[in-house]
Amino acid sequence: WPFHAPLVAAINRLKKERNAVILAHNYQAPEIFHTVADIVGDSLLLARKAAETDADVIVLAGVHFMAETAKILSPEKTVLMPAMDAGCSLADSITAADVRLLRERYPGVPIATYVNTSAAVKAESDVCITSGNAVEVINSLPGDEVLCIPDEYLAKWVATQTTKKVIAWKGHCEVHERFTGEQLRAYRTQFKGDITIIAHPECPPDVLAEADFVGSTAKMQDYVEGQQPKRVLLITECSMADNLAATNPAVEFVRPCNLCPHMRRITLSNILESLQTMQPQVHVDPAIAGRARQAVERMLAVGK
Ligand code: 13P
Ligand code: SF4
Repeated sequence: WPFHAPLVAAINRLKKERNAVILAHNYQAPEIFHTVADIVGDSLLLARKAAETDADVIVLAGVHFMAETAKILSPEKTVLMPAMDAGCSLADSITAADVRLLRERYPGVPIATYVNTSAAVKAESDVCITSGNAVEVINSLPGDEVLCIPDEYLAKWVATQTTKKVIAWKGHCEVHERFTGEQLRAYRTQFKGDITIIAHPECPPDVLAEADFVGSTAKMQDYVEGQQPKRVLLITECSMADNLAATNPAVEFVRPCNLCPHMRRITLSNILESLQTMQPQVHVDPAIAGRARQAVERMLAVGK
């Protein structure tokens, strides 16, 4: 991407000056993912690395809840979010007041909350989960019932992987809810069955029922790198396939995919600007951050 070279060079120079690290989600565009990012991964890995880094500044090339999670785990660090309006339909689907009502309605039932939520929602929860560890974390909780919020489809998928009764909320990812089982069956017919279909657990149940493998973005990556399928369809955000295609030339990546408008708000230009101005910074009310940290740290302790 020679066109991006001046921006990439300027960002990498400023990163050193500021002792900054760029954490990029797997859905970031290749010109960010393969150039300026220091750490790339799924939500779980980004949370772990945010807690571990000794940089003074974290630039979060992802969406707002990821930057908030980094700030919750590293309150002494400056966390820059190049596009403050990079939200998430799941995070918007539930409020802290909703979680308080759920606790009243289901007394004693543990509340496992997807990291794709605001700090205020995390603060009302017992533990966080990501799509990479949801089953493991939920199985570690006491009792036979669990509230798994706010992603209805993730909760339904978890229910197929655990013996616990899983109570769901009604949030959806605007990117993954658009895929259909019919669409996947049409691709199997087109390629006469000679296609591997991998889906993210935020997809509706009829989509997941058609998939050969279901997993978080990191697990999708491991699957493709490890199995080297001849032809693969990644039922998730478009940049996932773009990024993997660059490093797995033997694999044919079939589209369709859907774009996440929030992830697309991060650009090389606004990353550079954030490092130049040290703005916009993410702040979390310390009263909320302390309780949210407990929920995230409980999650990180599982599987360590
Ligand atoms: P992962 O945790 O699998 O990376 O997913 C994050 C996300 O936003 C999926 O839409
Ligand atoms: Fe949120 Fe879906 Fe975008 Fe992920 S892909 S950030 S869950 S809207």
